[in-house]
Amino acid sequence: MSKKKSAVMPLLYLAQKQNNNWIPLAAIKLIADTLNTTYIKVYEIATFYSMYNLAPVGKYFVQVCTTTPCMIRGSGKIVDTCKKIISKKQGELNQDLNSSWIEVECLGACVNAPMVQINNDYFEDLTDKKAEEIFKGFKEGRLPRFGSQSGRKGSEPTSNRTTLLKNA
Ligand code: FES
Repeated sequence: MSKKKSAVMPLLYLAQKQNNNWIPLAAIKLIADTLNTTYIKVYEIATFYSMYNLAPVGKYFVQVCTTTPCMIRGSGKIVDTCKKIISKKQGELNQDLNSSWIEVECLGACVNAPMVQINNDYFEDLTDKKAEEIFKGFKEGRLPRFGSQSGRKGSEPTSNRTTLLKNA
């Protein structure tokens, strides 16, 4: 078996990066040819992982986590806000805001749920109001600082930490 094939994922990532964050079928075919493998093998990988976009996405690409911890903490309202501000259906491009959104599985920031990923950054501890404010800011090219949007540091308890206070 050829070691070349282990380059499939990095090449898909590069193709996406070079093409406004999405991978056209022509790039999948070129990767398959370059690695001496079949088109379908590359396609299977590209469709398995949500990190690969196979259709154009907005300059501001919002991925909303709707897995259980985020769902319990209100990701449904974040999805409703996406539908209200960005587009009724996920994957649809909003030309005015240069943005699109999709639902994804756990992004590994459950402790600060609910959260979204916008391009490469995480925006956590969201409310529907805060999400609306962020999405509306796309029009002016404005994004808040990434991380918790509630003001807490990292994933400290919302009522401040309760341990290791003696010598603080
Ligand atoms: S469940 Fe949303 S980040 Fe894990």
